[in-house]
Amino acid sequence: MTMQITPSILNADFAALGAEVARIPSADWVHVDIMDNHFVPNLTFGPTMVEALARSTSVPLDAHLMIENPDREAPAYVEAGCGSVTFHVEATKAPVRLAREIRAKGARASMALKPATPIEPYEDMLAELDMVLLMTVEPGLGGQKFLDLVLPKIRRARSMMDKHGVETWLQVDGGVSLETIERCAAAGADVFVAGSAVYSADDPDAMIAALRDKAVS
Ligand code: DX5
Ligand code: ZN
Repeated sequence: MTMQITPSILNADFAALGAEVARIPSADWVHVDIMDNHFVPNLTFGPTMVEALARSTSVPLDAHLMIENPDREAPAYVEAGCGSVTFHVEATKAPVRLAREIRAKGARASMALKPATPIEPYEDMLAELDMVLLMTVEPGLGGQKFLDLVLPKIRRARSMMDKHGVETWLQVDGGVSLETIERCAAAGADVFVAGSAVYSADDPDAMIAALRDKAVS
């Protein structure tokens, strides 16, 4: 399995985002947390900002929409240049329709689940998704403690994907660090978001390599 590291810029310096992204050339994706102050109690970027960021780097953007109306807003993030767009299942009114729309517009379609949201109801739509994001903290803030209680869900999601023979990636987001990444990888995750772990390191790009080493070990 290919292990991918997708640093989140939530804990980067927002006054120098272009330079911050230039510090992580070996990232597989740049994870961009979109928060609307309604779905989560925090406010970040919109599509105009994301479009400027997409122009500033050759690393593809992985947008994580923590917003109330992804059915209406998600297409704008594909148009802004994101290679992957993740919506929350707790917020969408029509997950199959939205996943198809994101794919039809040319991006990878991904669906996120908060820690207490079960994966089982969505088993039959896995083939509609290029990635499933399992949150390992409650969404809204960087720097929170990894929730071990999500590990069994990661294992169940991986076995469902194996059973259905789908190519869907399994991403984890929240509290992923040198200390926790091996547990996630052992449970079956293959795409790892790391925010504070990467941007609090003296050398963020070296931290990506260190995380990758732990994930494959
Ligand atoms: C949290 C965001 C995460 C966050 C991760 O709501 O979705 O992407 O930036 O930050 P860390 O890695 O510090 O938990
Ligand atoms: Zn995120």
